[in-house]
Amino acid sequence: MEPVLDPDVLAFYERGGEETRLSQEPGGPADSRLEFLRTRDVLRRVLPAPPARVFDVGGAAGAHAVWLAADGYEVELLDPVPLHVRQARAKGIAARQGDARRLPRRDASFDAVLMLGPLYHLPERADRVLALAEARRVARPGGLVAAATISRWAPLHDGLVRGFLFAPGRLDATLETLRTGHQDGGTGLFTEAYFHDPADIAGEFAEAGLGAPVTYGLEGAAWLPGGMRDRLDDPEQREAVLTALRVVETEPSLLGASAHLLSVATV
Ligand SMILES: C[S@@+](CC[C@H](N)C(=O)[O-])C[C@H]1O[C@@H](n2cnc3c(N)ncnc32)[C@H](O)[C@@H]1O
Repeated sequence: MEPVLDPDVLAFYERGGEETRLSQEPGGPADSRLEFLRTRDVLRRVLPAPPARVFDVGGAAGAHAVWLAADGYEVELLDPVPLHVRQARAKGIAARQGDARRLPRRDASFDAVLMLGPLYHLPERADRVLALAEARRVARPGGLVAAATISRWAPLHDGLVRGFLFAPGRLDATLETLRTGHQDGGTGLFTEAYFHDPADIAGEFAEAGLGAPVTYGLEGAAWLPGGMRDRLDDPEQREAVLTALRVVETEPSLLGASAHLLSVATV
């Protein structure tokens, strides 16, 4: 059987960054903090009320599983990276190794299936559709599938704001990524990945047998200047950021401004 992950992706995650990436420590990386806060904000509004069974597929070290369990959900996590499984178990999460394309669970086992990660590491469309179809299969009728993607335009915006677009060869490589959606590993920027044109997400859901998803832009334009850190440290300003982003979260003309998108469909 083929390994689940490309060796570059496995090596990237075995470095252990997921343990702290979404940390809410004051002064931590603002983009990731905003991604976490917005993901939680949307999920808390769309998930069935606890207690309910949630499958966190590609859940890494358990950043979301931990608050979901604290909110009263019965959470199971699956991830292909052995380190992530150990880290999630150390937090008391029921975690096992596996692949989003072959979920080791019976039909209709969960009230909600989260796929916050696998789709942007599956470069082939057929694999992404297979993963979504598996999510649909293990979710109960009337349940929910929520899948994260990264915007096609995120590498361009990130490169402009953080300046790496101006390094030798990066502009051409980024333009190629915009054309195809694919980014090679070994660039020192993230890892091998697939970036979705927001307009393509609904087609992948439909092919997997899911209804039309509602797609939420998570960070909006708030990640672009990279200046949200101090605002997220301040409780009042953090609430203002979240309130502002809720207003534009499903505005179609702004979806591609977000780095991360969350698409939610009822089964
Ligand atoms: C950037 S992390 C996101 C982790 C977490 N869910 C979050 O929202 O922050 C992407 C995760 O997807 C996992 N992943 C990649 N390919 C996968 C696959 N085929 N099946 C399941 N998980 C996969 C990776 O191991 C990694 O933990």
